Amino acid sequence: MDLKLRAPDSDQHSILLPGQVSDLSSRYTGTLSSGKGREYKIEGNIADLMSNGHDYSIANWSNHLSVTAAVYEDVWRNRSLDILTGESFPIEKEKELLVDWLEPIKDKLYLDVGCSTALYARTVKQAEKKSVAVAIDISEAMLKEARKKASNEDCDLFLIRADARTMPFYAGMFDGLMMGGTLNELTDELKALYECRRVIKKGGTFFMMHLLKADSIAGKLLQGPAGWGGVKFWTLKQSNELFERAGFKVADQFNVGIVCFSKLIAV
Ligand SMILES: C[S@@+](CC[C@H](N)C(=O)[O-])C[C@H]1O[C@@H](n2cnc3c(N)ncnc32)[C@H](O)[C@@H]1O
Repeated sequence: MDLKLRAPDSDQHSILLPGQVSDLSSRYTGTLSSGKGREYKIEGNIADLMSNGHDYSIANWSNHLSVTAAVYEDVWRNRSLDILTGESFPIEKEKELLVDWLEPIKDKLYLDVGCSTALYARTVKQAEKKSVAVAIDISEAMLKEARKKASNEDCDLFLIRADARTMPFYAGMFDGLMMGGTLNELTDELKALYECRRVIKKGGTFFMMHLLKADSIAGKLLQGPAGWGGVKFWTLKQSNELFERAGFKVADQFNVGIVCFSKLIAV
């Protein structure tokens, strides 16, 4: 399936991303051109659709290092919820919840926003091989790692370097969205949430995992320095106000310690 995308430099022009780019069993390198004349490169199946100029937080910069990307999932992500919830929370439980709430369907289109190694997009594809998954991140290093992991698992994905605040997608393109931990790291979370609402179909499900503001003294002490690096935390009430402002209603939600899972519906 080819993907018709909105050119990052112009609302009036589109770019066609060939379906072969998502076939990670063969290496695809080439250029894409918007009708406006600007060219974008695809290298090793990763399409770079970033428009110019980015403002990264300190927390974001570390995601651009190959060493962070190489260890991110195996060393941190697979056990992060055990550490953050303070109890046993296997990654399999999180994946099950993602699939239960998102209910991926054959031929439908799903987007992983701020994907890092595309854990969520890969999980969706494993649950429904015939669904179409797109994963975006601003970090080339993370996308390269996502590519490695996805091809090892024989899982086909569209991997795009793009900013969640200005996505190269048309309105209502996606049947479902997912975001794991990225909300806390975004420089402009409301802008990104508005973009999420723009690109998802009305009634579509948005699976969100994010971290809440800690209540305990120890938690507050840990979150303080994270805040200096640009990581933000909200109370549950503030989080829900953000979701509602962006055009989502909370259909289901629970938190274990500071880790909050939300099933959001685009209204
Ligand atoms: C906490 S990690 C996300 C992990 C991943 N979703 C998971 O579940 O394992 C945050 C990711 O968001 C990416 N990111 C930060 N700001 C972004 C933005 N404006 N647009 C797209 N990706 C962004 C970072 O590069 C990083 O890979």
